[in-house]
Amino acid sequence: MDKVLSFVDDNRARFVTELAAWVKIPAISADPAHKADLVKNAEHLATELRRLSADRVEIWPTKGHPAVFAEFMHAPGKPTLLVYGHHDVQPVDPLGEWVSPPFEPAIREGRMWGRGVVDDKGQVWIHVKAIEAFLAGNGGKLPINLKLIVEGEEEIGSDNLDALMREHAKELEADFVCVSDTAMFGRGIPSLCVGLRGLATLEVHVEGPKQDLHSGSFGGGVANPVNALARMIASLHDDSGHVTVPGFYDKVLPLSHAEREEISSLPFDEKEWLASTGSPATHGEKGFSTLERVWARPTLDCNGIWGGFQGEGSKTIIPARASAKISCRLVPDQDPEEILRLVGAHLEKVAPPGVRVRVVHGHGGRPYLAPTSHPVFEVAKRAFAKAFGRPTVFIREGGSIPFVRTIADATGKPCLLMGFGQPDENAHAPNEWLDLENFHLGIKSAIHLYDELSRL
Ligand code: BES
Ligand code: MN
Ligand code: MN
Repeated sequence: MDKVLSFVDDNRARFVTELAAWVKIPAISADPAHKADLVKNAEHLATELRRLSADRVEIWPTKGHPAVFAEFMHAPGKPTLLVYGHHDVQPVDPLGEWVSPPFEPAIREGRMWGRGVVDDKGQVWIHVKAIEAFLAGNGGKLPINLKLIVEGEEEIGSDNLDALMREHAKELEADFVCVSDTAMFGRGIPSLCVGLRGLATLEVHVEGPKQDLHSGSFGGGVANPVNALARMIASLHDDSGHVTVPGFYDKVLPLSHAEREEISSLPFDEKEWLASTGSPATHGEKGFSTLERVWARPTLDCNGIWGGFQGEGSKTIIPARASAKISCRLVPDQDPEEILRLVGAHLEKVAPPGVRVRVVHGHGGRPYLAPTSHPVFEVAKRAFAKAFGRPTVFIREGGSIPFVRTIADATGKPCLLMGFGQPDENAHAPNEWLDLENFHLGIKSAIHLYDELSRL
């Protein structure tokens, strides 16, 4: 192990330079103009895995963007770990708010700045470099069997992943799964994430007159779609912050006393958290703490709204139409399809007279709750703590990674969410950054994880 770990120390700078080279490829999965960049991105990773002489490296095409698969299977009798990550990144707008350009990774303040540095290229690279170090310091052998699946559509809902996983069910078989695509609770605190929220997205379109009308000649005589949509959206929450959609909470598992204790025992600085958002006050469902609201309670949010005149000055019209994008974060045991049905039906019901309503369902993902009593969680805690020199805490996250629940259900095996981000890493926002110390210790954590799993 000493040789493996010192290889990481000796090659620290090179690993960072290599990550920067990958970050330069603008692999924005949401933008069709970048389709070729996703292919290039996948090939870049595949080339590196071939350089490490993986037994098998394949690019798996999908109807959308390709995934990369690799395996190292030279540890007979030892467990097999499947590592998942994603190589696609989020769009970069508003571009003007970036201090340095998103695809020209820069190093400042001990951080790498750029789109995808932490979500999720840096975290994928952590495993790739842990593999390299193990091979280099351990006679060309990993202590366990390891498979890697890195998809290219996570940021757009992983729509083609289920089919891909069915097609390659055999290749994806493993004893344990590890996903590094979450954040740590705070600086230097190794954190295993044991719960993720699910997601359900939809659009609602409200239509009135066949075209915009003069609001003097027609206003007061026909319904205004923007007014109607505003009322509909306003009706989705009550004054206590609860979602009013009938049936929305029916499948929600209540937090146990022990879970609430565990969450409240974490050193959460609400003031600091609030300051990092820039919002003037916290807000949410009555009866729950901020961490409970964000990690373990479902939400319904309007993500965007448009309609009517947006230009300079005023324009006296009754707009012909108005639309909104809505998403719900879900918790166990809510089901995305059922929630979309309930919210859609409710929107149609609360629409005021005089407008037509059309609801279009979008993508979704199911929530995940880890079986933390499984012994592998203690093993992972130990591995993580060894690298960071501090005890590991269990946390949850409010974000979603659709793969996690899918693979957990398909294999029946536990998923270790060992993330190396930071809560204020600006993922999906301008000036995304990766803490380079975490990158370094992340590689060591992965090494300890592989080593500990080999002795399980
Ligand atoms: N890495 C995130 C998931 C995440 C977010 C984990 C926040 C922990 C905290 C992932 O890349 C992501 O952004 N997921 C999307 C999923 C969606 C597009 C299906 C999300 O949560 O919005
Ligand atoms: Mn991610
Ligand atoms: Mn993301």
